[in-house]
Amino acid sequence: MKRERIFLSPPHMGGNELKYIEEVFQSNYIAPLGAFVDRFEKSVKEYVKTKNALALSSATAALHLALRVLEIDKDDEVLASTFTFIGSVAPILYQRATPIFIDSDYKSWNVDPNLLEDFILKRKKENKKLPKALILTHLYGQNAEIEEIFFLCEKYGIILIEDAAESLGATYKGKATGTFGKLGAYSFNGNKILTTSGGGMLVGDDEKLIERARFLSTQAKEPYLHYEHKTYGYNYRLSNVLAAIGVGQMEVIEDRVKKKREIFDWYREFLDPFEEIEFMPELLNSRGNRWLTTITFKKTNPLKVIEYLEKHNIESRPLWKPMHMQPLFKDAQRVVNGVSEDLFKRGLCLPSGTAMKKEDVEFISSLIIESME
Ligand SMILES: Cc1ncc(COP(=O)(O)O)c(C=O)c1O
Repeated sequence: MKRERIFLSPPHMGGNELKYIEEVFQSNYIAPLGAFVDRFEKSVKEYVKTKNALALSSATAALHLALRVLEIDKDDEVLASTFTFIGSVAPILYQRATPIFIDSDYKSWNVDPNLLEDFILKRKKENKKLPKALILTHLYGQNAEIEEIFFLCEKYGIILIEDAAESLGATYKGKATGTFGKLGAYSFNGNKILTTSGGGMLVGDDEKLIERARFLSTQAKEPYLHYEHKTYGYNYRLSNVLAAIGVGQMEVIEDRVKKKREIFDWYREFLDPFEEIEFMPELLNSRGNRWLTTITFKKTNPLKVIEYLEKHNIESRPLWKPMHMQPLFKDAQRVVNGVSEDLFKRGLCLPSGTAMKKEDVEFISSLIIESME
């Protein structure tokens, strides 16, 4: 009998989602507004301790609205993590702005604050304008060096936007990632730590910005019966049906973080004795959500391991291909040091679904060991 497929990070319902969907059907608010949209916003707001939250169709939409409300457009440059997923930076292109990619360090796998500072100081020395904003990703749910980066952004007047799509539940010194910057975005896509099948949340303490984003997310309709438009918006709101799933999911967020971290510890128990393997680090004072357990090999080609696991019906994946290596961005500016390129070549994302058992992790680990060079 073929083993059931083990996915990278499949949805894991908490238990109340269907009941809440039924409530939505009873209310007949099958629409991109309603009581569950409000409840979902409230639960995220309270959990990450921010003053405002806006439920949207995706984190990509949230980041797009962030740039739009900050009035970033074709004359602006935006710094961004190069080691990230396209959803993080496509919004820069939607706004016709210019991305500049910043590389990572081995300490966090996220933006290297020294590289960022060097870039800023070089620009200052040349008397050139600084980019308007930085979109900082907290990769695989592990925190970037947020204190240092926040400080640099404050000092040099660069607006910090956090791409916390993968890092709901992660904290630095007890404060949620996504709430350090002016605006932050979380994803509830099907593979995330929590899911609404597809969904996102824009958060921030600045009420005016979030309310402006709310207005733009519903086609920028001025308050007239006939709808009047002074500008254009988007159809980016989250359905009340999906928000009901979100409310159910938020009830189990802490259990999910705990389980993701436990899965990481299991992998470490089985794989750490092998010098060939290293794990994604965690910064001091941080609690990452370990959305995906990720490793690097010293010599083994990760594609071989992926192939071997696939033969056993197990999904795994390379690390994100850095943006500056993407054909789309072949001409884009970059400040690179080789770190993300190296991690990409040697790295692997391991199955990290929160319904996994220790035996699954043991089995996957044994296959990895078998396939290693
Ligand atoms: C780092 C990162 N940024 C942005 C996104 C975009 O999120 P969404 O799929 O909700 O648009 C994702 C995930 O999909 C992501 O992993």
